[in-house]
Amino acid sequence: MVYPIYVYGHPVLRKVAEDIDRNYEGLDQLIDDMFETMKQSDGIGLAAPQIGKSIRIFVVDGTLMSDQEPEMAGFKQVFINPYITRRTGEVVVMNEGCLSIPKIYEEVNRESTIHIEYFDRDWKFHKEIINGFKARIIEHEYDHLDGVLFTDMVSPLKKRLLKSKLAAISKGKFDVDYKTILPKQKVK
Ligand code: NI
Repeated sequence: MVYPIYVYGHPVLRKVAEDIDRNYEGLDQLIDDMFETMKQSDGIGLAAPQIGKSIRIFVVDGTLMSDQEPEMAGFKQVFINPYITRRTGEVVVMNEGCLSIPKIYEEVNRESTIHIEYFDRDWKFHKEIINGFKARIIEHEYDHLDGVLFTDMVSPLKKRLLKSKLAAISKGKFDVDYKTILPKQKVK
């Protein structure tokens, strides 16, 4: 099943998401659905709050860009109850976008290396050090679990310039090929 994407301004995107336990009902299906939803919307990452669920889980898939970015080969996985325990390395600036904030792309500073702990879909625990583009994608998705959006992290000047664009997005003034839920829209 493909979920609609919750759009900027919806309160669920601002909540701190909660850990799940291994008895979480329908977890396997949910993971499959998140991958499917991400694919349908051409995303390289999708966090549960973006489909209206305030739980600590996100999926990534960078495999389609492995032609240009060789490090993305095989980078398709789910992160359950992830915690970034350390961020190191140099601060790198890169353009980011987000399925919940259609058609906005801005430069964001992030540390190049992260230490992360998480469970995979078999509930195997992982403790890894990840850097580069992968770390970038993970940090963006991870922020969603803490109610943080990339537009929060741009310069004060950019923020001022973005304000009216973000307000327009909240009102549905955008055009995308995937289904969305607006802040005041009722879910059927
Ligand atoms: Ni995002």
